[in-house]
Amino acid sequence: MFEILEKERIGPGVNRAVISAPAIAQAHRPGQFIILRTHENGERIPLTVADKDPEKGTITLVWQEVGVTTYYMGTMCVGEKLQDLCGPLGKPTHIEKFGTVVGVGGGIGVAPLFPITKGMYEAGNNVITIIGARTEGLLIMTEDMKKVSHETLIATDDGSFGIHGFVTQVLQGLIDKGTKIDLAVAIGPVPMMKATVNVTRKANIPTVVSLNPIMVDGTGMCGACRVEVGGKTMFGCVDGPEFDAFEVDFDLLMKRLAMYKGPELIALNNFRETPRGCQCTFPGGA
Ligand code: FAD
Ligand code: FES
Ligand code: MG
Repeated sequence: MFEILEKERIGPGVNRAVISAPAIAQAHRPGQFIILRTHENGERIPLTVADKDPEKGTITLVWQEVGVTTYYMGTMCVGEKLQDLCGPLGKPTHIEKFGTVVGVGGGIGVAPLFPITKGMYEAGNNVITIIGARTEGLLIMTEDMKKVSHETLIATDDGSFGIHGFVTQVLQGLIDKGTKIDLAVAIGPVPMMKATVNVTRKANIPTVVSLNPIMVDGTGMCGACRVEVGGKTMFGCVDGPEFDAFEVDFDLLMKRLAMYKGPELIALNNFRETPRGCQCTFPGGA
């Protein structure tokens, strides 16, 4: 169980792995995530189930290397096993036939957006996907997305591929040309989700965001994943991870995500000295 069956690099610092997890593959619904530990002394981190194959008993994880655990996972090879995998966790996405659904994915946010897009497509919605990244090399899963979208619009901040600009400008363009959008789903860096909401709010388009607060137990007991939604404290792990975007306090979320930056940096520097750390390429060439 939890053996890595396939693993590939799909972008700079971005990995995709197929893991044996039959019970999770059976029970999983779009929008849900797992919490894993790489080894006995490892910390717990949440990752979205980006795809699954219930017949083969596998799930797919896509992750960006940003700190100790995600870099550690980047060094793991086919045949190695994750220590444990808990899930599926969180509320599944509310999927129905809304009409036209626009999915907006930025950076690694495209991975969690994929299963939701697939669910919306299979439910008979007209699906338009907008994928954005800083530059062409950082775009991920564009071909996967095209398979579950009626229209896929790709934008890069530097214009190296697709439309030159931000996903919010592409979304504004759709609105300006009169596209009737019944629901928007935005997943990506917090500033991107906040900017998307500024566009959809003005156009009165119901919008859902999937939040990524720091999570520990994932079952509503530790309180680490507190987020403020509509002036109320909610737990990202059990009340979410998806919320009504118009009600989310994004500034507070950003603040809480940066709470442990100091200790995370120290842990990463210590990891660099370990045999696994020596295998990693860190930004800046260290
Ligand atoms: P660290 O150096 O420890 O942390 C880097 C930053 O990641 C921190 O500053 C903090 O903002 C965040 N972080 C750290 N620990 C946690 C934690 N326990 N829980 C949440 N955030 C944390 N990332 C992906 O690449 N792919 C995904 O599919 C994905 N899905 C997610 C789904 C959910 C529901 C949530 C809450 C987060 C998801 N993330 C995903 C983010 C991922 O969990 C963090 O990038 C990861 O925990 C970072 O751990 P680290 O030790 O490598 O880095
Ligand atoms: Fe502990 Fe949500 S992660 S309550
Ligand atoms: Mg960490």
